[in-house]
Amino acid sequence: MAMKLRYIIVFAFALIFSSCGDDSTVKVFEDRDLTDIEYNPQTLQISYPQTFPRLEQPDDNLMTTDGVELGRHLFYDPILSADSTMSCASCHLPLGSFTDNLAVSIGIDNIAGKRSSMSLLNTGFYNTGLFWDGRSTTLEEQALLPVEDPIELHDTWDNVIFKLQCTEAYPEMFRKAFGIEKSSQITKELAAKAMAQFERSLVSSGSSKYDKVLAGKDVFTEEELMGFEIFFDINEDLPDGECFHCHNEPLLTTNEYLNNGLDSVPDFDSFEDVGYGAVTGVNFDNGKFRVPTLRNIIHSAPFMHDGRFQTLEEVLDHYNSGGKPSPNKHPLIVPLGLTQEHLDALMAFLHTLTDEEFMNNPAYSDPN
Ligand code: HEC
Ligand code: HEC
Repeated sequence: MAMKLRYIIVFAFALIFSSCGDDSTVKVFEDRDLTDIEYNPQTLQISYPQTFPRLEQPDDNLMTTDGVELGRHLFYDPILSADSTMSCASCHLPLGSFTDNLAVSIGIDNIAGKRSSMSLLNTGFYNTGLFWDGRSTTLEEQALLPVEDPIELHDTWDNVIFKLQCTEAYPEMFRKAFGIEKSSQITKELAAKAMAQFERSLVSSGSSKYDKVLAGKDVFTEEELMGFEIFFDINEDLPDGECFHCHNEPLLTTNEYLNNGLDSVPDFDSFEDVGYGAVTGVNFDNGKFRVPTLRNIIHSAPFMHDGRFQTLEEVLDHYNSGGKPSPNKHPLIVPLGLTQEHLDALMAFLHTLTDEEFMNNPAYSDPN
């Protein structure tokens, strides 16, 4: 009985103070009329290397200047987490090519997930599913998930939307981006749309040495050229690296779901993380993960879905060894017979995929 009463008191207290406002001023939520703020969305054209495929956008969520700007604010704002300590950017930092440089990500409650954060570079081009296992189909759908994920931002959308409606700035930004008329019209779907627009704007600048060489504006050193030829199997006098079959140009990924021989397992049911198999329900897909891009790879350590390799040297040693046996290891994961000279050359080539301009682009940085 005493317990019950205490709950009722706590609940009543929570109701009073769930109104808008910070610690000092408690305001009552006011549904602001926003119609005097101009709504005049401008389509945003972004440029990316000419070798890239066309960037597809959903008809009902074309990038606009104000949409991308709103998405950028949301992406960097800890208001999206229950205790205001973390934002999307906590795990997707520009300087890590939009990863967190941890083996596996850690959320607001200090609980570690089982997967490594993924680079968001060129994420708008990936149309075979998102996440290491492909469980999300669109950026709009994906952006709804981290807020309520118990090991990420661990809040509820109702609460986040309420917090956004209470701010001075967000109702105006949602008005400019989506034409809402009152602050109560802010929804999680619109927030997700804005974040998806921002993410689609995260494209290669074209200033990596690799892109410049392809565009005829720079040349590889001898060592880089050797690495390039091993990567793409194009010199008969050098061993084949086989890399391009899965990390093909121009995005340096085919975005397929494959097993690259990370674990030694006797059968399909023994993989610790079944990956793609959990999404397709086909046990032949167990232990398969999406091929990630190698663009900016030197900035997104540690490597693989569980961050098991700390360095690129370890990654190259893994491939050179032919990987570990499992029933669905891809047939191209075989001993490569690369000497130290070849490995150094491959490493030099991987460095040419670095795009500093992308990571330092002010349009992608924290707006606050
Ligand atoms: C606690 C760390 C953490 C936070 C916070 C976080 N992410 Fe992630 N993100 C990850 C991890 C880990 C993965 C890979 C998960 C997997 O494959 O199971 C990922 C994957 C993604 C992907 C998939 C990329 C691809 O190429 O498939 C996108 C997009 C993404 N996150 C966007 C966001 C957005 C938007 C937010 C904020 C709303 C956010 N993330 C918040 C850790 C985080
Ligand atoms: C049969 C396809 C295949 C081939 C061939 C292949 N890879 Fe991969 N690569 C993958 C897959 C799949 C992953 C992700 C595996 C995982 O995390 O479970 C991956 C991951 C990586 C990663 C880690 C990326 C990150 O963000 O964590 C690097 C680096 C890499 N590969 C480099 C190479 C190089 C260099 C070669 C050639 C020597 C190569 N790969 C050959 C399929 C392949």
